[in-house]
Amino acid sequence: IVAGTAAHAQTPYPTKTITMIVPFAAGGPTDTVARLVAQSMGNTLKQQIIVENVGGAGGTIGAARVAKADPDGYTLFLHHIGQSTAPTLYRKLPYNAIDSFEPIGLVTDVPMTFVARKDFPAKDFKELLAYVKANKTKVTYANAGVGSASHLCGMLFMSAIDTELTTVPYKGTGPAMNDLLGGQVDFMCDQTTNTTSQIKGGKIKVYGVTTKTRVPSLPDVPTLNEAGLPGFEVAVWHGLYAPKGTPKPVVDKLATALQAALKDQNVKTRFAELGTEPVAENRANPEALRTFLKSEIDKWAPIIKKAGVYAD
Ligand code: MLT
Repeated sequence: IVAGTAAHAQTPYPTKTITMIVPFAAGGPTDTVARLVAQSMGNTLKQQIIVENVGGAGGTIGAARVAKADPDGYTLFLHHIGQSTAPTLYRKLPYNAIDSFEPIGLVTDVPMTFVARKDFPAKDFKELLAYVKANKTKVTYANAGVGSASHLCGMLFMSAIDTELTTVPYKGTGPAMNDLLGGQVDFMCDQTTNTTSQIKGGKIKVYGVTTKTRVPSLPDVPTLNEAGLPGFEVAVWHGLYAPKGTPKPVVDKLATALQAALKDQNVKTRFAELGTEPVAENRANPEALRTFLKSEIDKWAPIIKKAGVYAD
């Protein structure tokens, strides 16, 4: 037996409730992914995993909380692509996106959708493009703060069409969706994990998906490639972390429980209904997340610098 495995099997961990920090408000896409994964991992580890929402500053408030938490395995962190954009967007972050965390594994890549309030005047994406170019800052765009996925998508969109809109930030796209449903904000780019049920319920309008190919659970929604913005692609990857210094046997036990969660039929079914699927098994491990996070930080830095968007 490899020593690690022996230690991993003998670790009494966990012996009490675990907290999984979500750096956005409850009811949004990140929260949705976290609660499904926490439920399944808790079953495997035979300890409750409670989700705690710590919103603000595009996810960096929650990240800072985790970076300072005890590395004892009882604080976990579920975050998305924002972990890789914050180091460029925030020039004075109180943590290091790589060195302040122990990666556990990748979780899922979620497509995004361009959605608007039900009575938004555009009937398709081409009309939406024409409308926002004509009305500029009279159009309001919701996001979850600088560093959120909705912010990233909006930044890429405004750069692509060379048009500034009025941005309305929320502590998550859960609260943003409430205002979209109420017509208080015009549109947003948000993840299918948050928009699918409202789209299918006819409560909001959908104009396109931001993935290379169409989303199986939204078969009639064109890709932006088809709809008029060729090459516009963004999907929101999610990773699970613990604070730096969390013991390796604990990290290995968490990675094993994550891998079980991604094979859990309940998780797979719910993910599919929400337009996503678990990552391939060989990505749900510490090395895969560490490597991918580094490559994403390097990928987004020049794009963000070119757009000239900074939070501080
Ligand atoms: C985002 O835009 O980053 C997320 O949708 C925020 C959230 O999960 O609420």
